[in-house]
Amino acid sequence: MTSRIVTTQPFTDQKPGTSGLRKSVPVFQQPHYLENFVQSIFDSLNGCQGQTLVVGGDGRYFNREAIQVILKMAAANGIGKVKVGQHGILSTPATSCAIRKFHAFGGIILSASHNPGGPNADFGVKYNIGNGGPAPETVTAAIFERTKSIDCYQIIDAPDVDIDTLGTSELGGMVVEVIDAVNDYVDLMQSLFDFDRIQQFLTTDGFRMCIDAMHAVTGPYADQIFQQRLGAPAGTVQNAIPLVDFGGGHPDPNLVYAHDLVEILFGDNAPDFGAAFDGDGDRNMILGRRFFVNPSDSLAILAANATLIPGYKDGLAGIARSMPTSKAADRVAAKLGIDCYETPTGWKFFGNLLDAGKATLCGEESFGTSSNHIREKDGIWAALFWLNILAVRQQSVEQIVQEHWQIYGRNYYSRHDYEAIDSDRAHTLMAGLNELMPTLKGKTFGRYEVEFMDDFSYTDPIDGSVSQNQGLRIGFTDGSRIVCRLSGTGTQGATLRLYLESFEADATKQSLDPQVALQDLIAIAEELAHIRELTGMEKPTVIT
Ligand code: G6P
Ligand code: ZN
Repeated sequence: MTSRIVTTQPFTDQKPGTSGLRKSVPVFQQPHYLENFVQSIFDSLNGCQGQTLVVGGDGRYFNREAIQVILKMAAANGIGKVKVGQHGILSTPATSCAIRKFHAFGGIILSASHNPGGPNADFGVKYNIGNGGPAPETVTAAIFERTKSIDCYQIIDAPDVDIDTLGTSELGGMVVEVIDAVNDYVDLMQSLFDFDRIQQFLTTDGFRMCIDAMHAVTGPYADQIFQQRLGAPAGTVQNAIPLVDFGGGHPDPNLVYAHDLVEILFGDNAPDFGAAFDGDGDRNMILGRRFFVNPSDSLAILAANATLIPGYKDGLAGIARSMPTSKAADRVAAKLGIDCYETPTGWKFFGNLLDAGKATLCGEESFGTSSNHIREKDGIWAALFWLNILAVRQQSVEQIVQEHWQIYGRNYYSRHDYEAIDSDRAHTLMAGLNELMPTLKGKTFGRYEVEFMDDFSYTDPIDGSVSQNQGLRIGFTDGSRIVCRLSGTGTQGATLRLYLESFEADATKQSLDPQVALQDLIAIAEELAHIRELTGMEKPTVIT
């Protein structure tokens, strides 16, 4: 088998976003496009020769083809061994688990997360480092720099590798090991949660639930864990077969895109609990019977109940949340006497805090929650955490959330997304808002007085790296906030995200619809940012 050097030219659009390089499949199918990016990854990694990499994806369209290219390029670039998920499948949390468990040098994840899949939908490539987490900005910046000047890549000429049969084979001097995609991850879950107690809860206490894998990667994991190991009846996991186009759906577990599950949990004879996960299995949405758990609240509630769970019985070192995530977790941290860190959007910012033992639980408003067990967010983990709490407390999801609000107060919270808007208009809107920065402090809008406005900047407490321009924040004197930023994960035009938060300590005023509770802040945001006029949209495309 010969290694070939192929001449190429740079593409100008290979800058990794919030979570790797995400483009439509036709973009990735251009000659040399995938290869250029993969070679840029290899070129940016010092000392990867002879080392082990983990490779897998969420099974979306182009997954298998991309894996073959990566295997052949890895062999040509002197990688020692690649552990690849059977059928090319590994959920993002399972990849993180495998990198850590096998002390791999890093991993390549093929996924566009919650974006739709299919011949004309999205694909993505993300590099994770040896701690199992997304590459930090220093690494993604180096990869991007390399894409700008790349002039050749290395690949071996060889027949495709069998990635469907477990076991090892050899490819141009490199070992390829096809690993079971599910087992190691399931073992890790079993080490953290009380499976016996959850099993009893699911089989003898009359508790009913529905899990929606959205035809994405979590199907096999959810089947194994909830149905096979924990004894939930067959059919508990719906849409369990991963499909290359996710059955035409949008595998994003929110109230809009996970409508099948929402209908069941809000319908007649609704079960007690529901959970859905995204394309690559790192996001989660938690529902109770006719009850939605806001992801920011979910983080706070997991933190407040952590000592009920075997894996966290000794308590938490700290909590970390992304900046736009509500401050509900801060209140729990304050009560527990532990630190709460505020990071930019993107799971990669939690890595250093987790590695340094400063945070145990992390969460984001974008339906991501996880802990130091891996270095990615973890959808099934979140559902198991909730089930373990429910099994111990023997209360409904709604009761648990409401009791939490009574103790800590309620952070009313909502996110308004304006998707696929014209990029120029989005930048004009952000620039206009930015211009208000020097003038806003002290101004009042009805009962709200502006305490500060800034463009969020983060200095990593471990390595001192600084990340600027992470979103505009308007803070009010009563702790309410309006946050505005552009999404870093979209592939069409720009997506504007408006995050709104207010605090209600009075238990008699905690059951409002968040859109009602936040209506004054929504109006202030409109007044300041002229969203309707500048986006040309009458209302958001998604409200959570
Ligand atoms: C991905 C990342 C998350 C991030 C989310 C939202 O899921 O893994 O860490 O919160 O994208 O990103 P966006 O830039 O679209 O708001
Ligand atoms: Zn995801």
